[in-house]
Amino acid sequence: MIEVEGLSYRYASGSAALQDLNFQVGPGEVFGFLGPSGAGKSTTQKILIRLLKPYTGQVRVMGRELREQGPEYYERIGVGFELPNHFMKLTALENLRFFASFYGATADPRALLAKVGLEEYADHRIDQFSKGMKMRLCFVRAVLHDPQVLFLDEPTSGLDPVNARLLKDLVLQEKARGKTVFLTTHNMHDAAELCDRVAFLVDGEIRLTGSPKELCAEGARRRLTVEYEEGDTTGSREFPLDSLGEDQEFLELLRSRRLVSVHSQEPTLEDVFVEATGRRLM
Ligand SMILES: Nc1ncnc2c1ncn2[C@@H]1O[C@H](COP(=O)(O)OP(=O)(O)OP(=O)(O)O)[C@@H](O)[C@H]1O
Ligand SMILES: [Mg+2]
Repeated sequence: MIEVEGLSYRYASGSAALQDLNFQVGPGEVFGFLGPSGAGKSTTQKILIRLLKPYTGQVRVMGRELREQGPEYYERIGVGFELPNHFMKLTALENLRFFASFYGATADPRALLAKVGLEEYADHRIDQFSKGMKMRLCFVRAVLHDPQVLFLDEPTSGLDPVNARLLKDLVLQEKARGKTVFLTTHNMHDAAELCDRVAFLVDGEIRLTGSPKELCAEGARRRLTVEYEEGDTTGSREFPLDSLGEDQEFLELLRSRRLVSVHSQEPTLEDVFVEATGRRLM
């Protein structure tokens, strides 16, 4: 659904924001673009939605080079911006009706508001909305016309856990309906949970791409740590994961001690990111 080859971009005022990006997103995939502030995540999304145009390289969405996409492109994609950009003096429903007027057919705005818990605020002005409410409205606006591909820039940023959960469930629902989702985030937990694949972006370059599960498994030390009671204290030993069945010391420990905990040492996606890029996300 999205094919990017050798994509580079430079803002008129500054140095290169993106350098030679290569990635593909398949139909029905949730693809996460992860990176610290200033990495170029929003710039990439803005190119993909044709907000920034003079890029070099090839970018095809739904089989067609972006430079050749006409206005109908916006019928087929949905966009959630990094900062909620609603008409503040209009109500939620007025905002949705205004944006709905750009499209051929849309879902019922009230039904969509109900889906994100905003039904009773349909007639409230946006300047009375909290950040979480604005972000939920952002999502509704993005899916108003039931697009095939969704671009969501930091959809859970600044949300409390309840609202973040709701937004994540909505993304997963879109995936379950076969939609393709490109999302940017610096939240590793969200990425690990939502994304089929992620790309790590640092200083405008992709450093690593893969599924969160595979990336974590590749980085795993494949060792098991066993903690056990030892008098009044807790003892701890590590064993290689691959030969546990024949490891006499491990088996003896299991037989003779009361265990406190047993855990394998899989790195988190954040550990993998730090390892691959030498950078932290925040
Ligand atoms: N309009 C602009 N003009 C010039 N430079 C810009 C502009 N917008 C962004 N940049 C620069 O491009 C780089 C990438 O910015 P971008 O907004 O894409 O980062 P990001 O990964 O989305 O960061 P964040 O996590 O803070 O949203 C940064 O160095 C930024 O300063
Ligand atoms: Mg950004």
